[in-house]
Amino acid sequence: MTNDLNQLRARGNLAYLAPKHRKQRKRFLNSVRAYLNRAEPGSLAAMAAQTPATENTVPEQQLPQWLFAFDAASWAAFRALSLLAADPVTTEAARNEAVTHFPDVPLLRATMLESLRLWPTTPLILRDTTESTTWRSGSLAAGTSMVVFAPFFHRDDETLAEAHRFTPKLWLTDRDDTDWPLVPFSGGPGLCPGRNVVLLTASAVLAELLDEHRFSPNNTSEASAEPLNLHNLPGTLSPFSSSFMTRRR
Ligand code: HEM
Repeated sequence: MTNDLNQLRARGNLAYLAPKHRKQRKRFLNSVRAYLNRAEPGSLAAMAAQTPATENTVPEQQLPQWLFAFDAASWAAFRALSLLAADPVTTEAARNEAVTHFPDVPLLRATMLESLRLWPTTPLILRDTTESTTWRSGSLAAGTSMVVFAPFFHRDDETLAEAHRFTPKLWLTDRDDTDWPLVPFSGGPGLCPGRNVVLLTASAVLAELLDEHRFSPNNTSEASAEPLNLHNLPGTLSPFSSSFMTRRR
């Protein structure tokens, strides 16, 4: 099942440029269905099997979202940890918060959101307009396909002074949605329904790690990447090559 999913995802990245592999997709969805039928106690499949469903609900088409979209959560959590490793003051505040208020950890949630603002895991949001729109260079008819390129807004240093700086406080104040172009989980009716489950699980993982370990930048010659400069963060950060030092508390 995992092999099928990996291959389908690799091809999915090419969108319309690659042919669809309907047989493999069917086989993959059938294996997900087999897990749902088995509903092993304590598993996500058991929970899905017990959840009230209408005749239009297709749980085997919902579970893949859990299977692939949590990859993004772990990349973002790893990048959040890289930010914390470079920022002892925020880390200490986050650790205190985790020790005293867990699971209510707004600073860790904000750190996750900052990681996703700085390095969005869904950089392209696709939409079709429902009415005609007017732009500086002319107007576009209803039904036009649009691409919202999230990094363009997230790193816009003409409107956001903190564009390239680690600034968790951006996420600690309530804001008017319409005036807030930072959309790591999209926005409006298309908001990611996994947003809260991602933020809850990832901040719980970070809280646990901070409780047990101290993290600092890897300044050794073996480090595969430059230490992060929190005041001028790079446009991309591979979660696979960034590294930091850990020691037990
Ligand atoms: C870091 C992790 C994640 C990020 C940054 C993220 C981000 C997003 C974004 C930006 C969209 C909207 C895409 C669009 O409008 O074109 C979306 C949609 C969606 N996400 Fe997530 N997501 C994450 C994890 C998850 C997880 C773990 C789940 C499920 C457990 C999930 C479930 C969904 C679903 C079902 C949609 C489609 C919603 C719809 O079409 O109405 N996401 N996500």
